[in-house]
Amino acid sequence: MNVVAGNGTEIPAIGLGTWELRGRTCARIVEQALRLGYRHIDTAQIYDNEREVGEGMRASGVRRDDIFVTTKVWTTHFRPGDLERSAKESLVRLRMTEIDLLLLHWPNPQVPLAETLGALAKVKRAGLARSIGVSNFGVALIEEAVAACPEPLACDQIEYHPYLDQADVIEACARHGLAFVAYSPIAKGRVKGDRVLARIGDRYRKTAAQVCLRWLVQQNVSAIPRTAKLERLQENIDIFDFELSGEDMQEISAIAGAKPR
Ligand SMILES: NC(=O)c1ccc[n+]([C@@H]2O[C@H](COP(=O)([O-])OP(=O)(O)OC[C@H]3O[C@@H](n4cnc5c(N)ncnc54)[C@H](OP(=O)(O)O)[C@@H]3O)[C@@H](O)[C@H]2O)c1
Repeated sequence: MNVVAGNGTEIPAIGLGTWELRGRTCARIVEQALRLGYRHIDTAQIYDNEREVGEGMRASGVRRDDIFVTTKVWTTHFRPGDLERSAKESLVRLRMTEIDLLLLHWPNPQVPLAETLGALAKVKRAGLARSIGVSNFGVALIEEAVAACPEPLACDQIEYHPYLDQADVIEACARHGLAFVAYSPIAKGRVKGDRVLARIGDRYRKTAAQVCLRWLVQQNVSAIPRTAKLERLQENIDIFDFELSGEDMQEISAIAGAKPR
């Protein structure tokens, strides 16, 4: 599996998003994804499925050390004591001793960022999380976070797909060595009906969604598509046997007026 590096942390280029996956469906999809070769699972405290993500992982038979798990702390737990408690509770639900990547889910202007980042760094130093990062941070907040955090930040996880130009955030991440992780990478399924992506896909015998995901990983972006359908699990990871041309990359980027790197 290809990886995207962020300040020393290697994040698998494709992961499974789990927002809205619940109960048995969640556990079954996580298990199947891992059996198919996924090695990165994205969850969050607020998704209310960490328990099922852990169950799916154990049922898959894949070794814990071979799986990269991201979870996120919700904004109501950004005060130092709360953040540490929240991380410990996530570990209990996941039935793990260490989170691979722990993110601040959204900015919370009500708590000083330096205070929250200090607590996040402390969680890392205590061995509860191997790496730490942020989510939904724009350029100004990335700058502020990098300056204030006592430990290196591995990534910014933020929405990105062909209908949303994120060139400035991609550039800020690159400047500070953060990996860029794209959420809603297939625009919540919208790319399926995209004529440009479908036409490009015809040349490679790939679907519009596969072309979209390939366009992301070719920019050195990690993508975490979600599906509740077994056949789409395979489709969404089957993107490492073809390469888009420079012209294809530009044409897709032009959909939102963005420039590919
Ligand atoms: N950090 C944050 O604030 C944040 C915010 C949003 C999301 N996320 C993370 O990012 C993950 C992905 O984002 P997302 O769930 O918003 O949207 P997404 O992955 O862009 O799209 C998911 C939707 O696309 C459909 N789909 C999946 N594969 C497909 C394919 N090959 N062809 C056509 N349709 C397909 C799915 O339907 P089926 O289930 O029917 O296949 C689902 O409705 C989330 O699950 C979550 O882990 C993070």
